[in-house]
Amino acid sequence: MKYLIDKLYKAHNLTIEEFKSLIEERTPEIAEYLFERARQVKIANYGCDVYIRGLIEFSNYCRNDCYYCGIRKSNTGAERYRLTEEDILNCCNTGHNLGFRTFVLQSGEDLYFTDEKMVHIIKSIKNRYPDCAVTLSIGERSYESYKAFYDAGADRYLLRHETANEEHYKKLHPENLSLLNRKACLFDLKKIGYQVGCGFMVGSPYQTVETLVEDLMFIKELQPHMVGIGPFIPHSDTPFAHKESGTLELTLFMLGLVRLMIPEVLMPATTALGTIDPLGREKGIQAGGNVVMPNLSPVAVRNKYMLYDNKICTGDEAAECRFCMQKRMEGIGCRVVVSRGDHRSCNK
Ligand code: 5AD
Ligand code: FES
Repeated sequence: MKYLIDKLYKAHNLTIEEFKSLIEERTPEIAEYLFERARQVKIANYGCDVYIRGLIEFSNYCRNDCYYCGIRKSNTGAERYRLTEEDILNCCNTGHNLGFRTFVLQSGEDLYFTDEKMVHIIKSIKNRYPDCAVTLSIGERSYESYKAFYDAGADRYLLRHETANEEHYKKLHPENLSLLNRKACLFDLKKIGYQVGCGFMVGSPYQTVETLVEDLMFIKELQPHMVGIGPFIPHSDTPFAHKESGTLELTLFMLGLVRLMIPEVLMPATTALGTIDPLGREKGIQAGGNVVMPNLSPVAVRNKYMLYDNKICTGDEAAECRFCMQKRMEGIGCRVVVSRGDHRSCNK
């Protein structure tokens, strides 16, 4: 198996069959070898730096009904909220004072935030903080909308593909959502000029080794700047309430593989990873991750943006999250950097 890791390290690719056997036949020893290689590649590209992004969850209204997600529209138990533009700018102000130079605006698919409103928000942030990057994570919109946000100054866009297998996609989403459209959005975003992030959950219901390999092949094809990978965690008010969580072990393995496949990728150690294991985010960094995204949302709404059960950091102030993260990263020999932390090939 080690020869497959060496091959991936050198060629940045494997065949479908090779990926499949590597995942199926992995052992703790193989995983450790993968992580060593992944760290080596990461250090060659980024040194010991870990990039920090301030996450602002500005609305938990969602028009979609993904079976796994706690803020799906059918969850009448979710208490809905929206931040105002002023609230969002206040979060940015707090974040800027704490050293954040990237703000990630995330929400459910909430059409209350029209293109016009989003453009206004993006322009206000870029106007006030010209040294900062704005990342959007607000779901599927038209090419024209994406273009308008980009022209307003948005730099990056996160849109997880969730699964690259058509049949699997249908098992995770209602009929009105399609993988085809999801992928088209990602290619549109790239074409417009965004730094783009895709990604998937590990251990989502009905996932198989085959679908995981398809995820890797899709990532290879898209060549995203960022990849978000976290374990699936059930939410008690969703159709998947009784499904099992994804494991730390397989999530880390997938992070390692993606690091070798795309050496310069920006890859967060996600909050979901920190939720299934108290040291999950540290382990995610040690498996190949190089980004952390502490929460900047106001404490009053923190516990309302519940994509899954037991989400961590829901009672903490922005500053606590910021410094907790710094301590954690320093604890594993990493340096938290407060630059924009653009993708290496990008000089926008
Ligand atoms: N468990 C883990 N991750 C989830 N997400 C949504 N619901 C869950 C869940 N139950 C992830 C999705 C989405 C991102 C914002 O959060 O991958 O794209
Ligand atoms: Fe909101 Fe899936 S439930 S996008």
